[in-house]
Amino acid sequence: MRSPALTRHPAATDAGGRWESRLIRSAHPVVARVVDLAVARRQVTRVPGVGLLVADPEAARRVLSDTAHFAKQGPGSSGALWTPVLGERVLLNMDGPEHARLRRVLADLFSPRIVDEVCRDAAQPLVARAAERLRAGEPVDVARLAREVAAAVIGLVVGLSGGADRAELLRASDDIESMVTWRTRTFDEAAVDHARRALAVVQDAAEAAHRAASDDTVMGRLALQGVSLEEARSLAAALFLTGVGTVSSALPRIVGQLADAGLLDRPGAATADLDAVIAEGLRMTTPSLVTLRRCSRPTELHGIRLRQDERVVVLLWWATRLSGGFDPARRPPAAMRHLWFGAGSHFCLGAPLAIAELRAMAGMVLEVAAERGLAVTRRTAARRVLVPRYAELSVGAGAPG
Ligand code: HEM
Repeated sequence: MRSPALTRHPAATDAGGRWESRLIRSAHPVVARVVDLAVARRQVTRVPGVGLLVADPEAARRVLSDTAHFAKQGPGSSGALWTPVLGERVLLNMDGPEHARLRRVLADLFSPRIVDEVCRDAAQPLVARAAERLRAGEPVDVARLAREVAAAVIGLVVGLSGGADRAELLRASDDIESMVTWRTRTFDEAAVDHARRALAVVQDAAEAAHRAASDDTVMGRLALQGVSLEEARSLAAALFLTGVGTVSSALPRIVGQLADAGLLDRPGAATADLDAVIAEGLRMTTPSLVTLRRCSRPTELHGIRLRQDERVVVLLWWATRLSGGFDPARRPPAAMRHLWFGAGSHFCLGAPLAIAELRAMAGMVLEVAAERGLAVTRRTAARRVLVPRYAELSVGAGAPG
């Protein structure tokens, strides 16, 4: 049965929107201001030394979908950055028929059955424990919960076994994230070695699961489909890099939005249409702030001529802004829909898994909120991180803070 639509509290302000801006500025103090200024007047604009900034949702969708003119590979692209660390064939650094072929091989990696199984085994125990603590009146830091769930889920996908490995996985994720800034165009040899060492925990687990070739594990299924060991090791690292930071950033930000819209503190009010909450929460938070393309053939975008090899900075977070703040009852314009997961041939492969993880966690928070009311008791923005996020966002029965 579909639950009733969740409506904002009539007196709700756009405090959630202000927190979102604060998170972006805390993560990228200088760049965020430069971008805000640059796109305030023109949503598609050239900034010398940076590239063409694209904050208009239709133009962003065109760049991501038009593979005849815009590529993931080549000088200055994120694909080029990751190739020395991950190898040549990890989706996010591929284009064209080879990319499409590999995506087809991976198509059932995140089928509804597999997503359910992975979430049941990896996420549910952690989510159930958090619910118990909330029901016992203890505060829960949902930023921490989301990191643990995201790591447990990807850990299971790549073939890790237990909690100790999870801590190592989170260290590796932080370690690699700290190597990349807005200015990073290439890694030097020492950085490549460092990143490879950090990823060894993921890749060794993937290798063992691939060798066992059991259809109980995602890596085993890849082996059964003929994906080579080398390719599976690379893909495991790519899934890890794309799947941990994004989900850990999204959940606490969505919970923050719910609280700021007045949807957690009224017992009984939060019997939500969870799909609408997650979609609107992802629009508000758009954890992959930016993605890059290279203009592979001269073209025109929004009235601006682009040269071959020009860098295009697709500002996903800026392209998904709407006035009025978080509102699960709204339907965003078509060009914006799912743009938080990208568009076109590189559309997020892990979207079904990400949504299932977010449903499990946000659903639990809303359920407890419906029983007893919840408030944000503490929150701090993380400073100078690649993926904007809360360092802490605790919810509990205490006084709002
Ligand atoms: C809320 C969570 C997530 C968000 C917002 C997100 C966002 C995105 C975006 C915007 C892209 C496209 C990038 C581009 O076109 O340049 C992408 C691609 C990708 N995502 Fe996600 N993602 C999330 C979670 C995940 C998870 C959990 C996984 C894996 C388990 C994952 C795996 C991937 C992969 C492999 C690609 C590359 C696909 C390709 O290049 O063909 N993502 N994601």
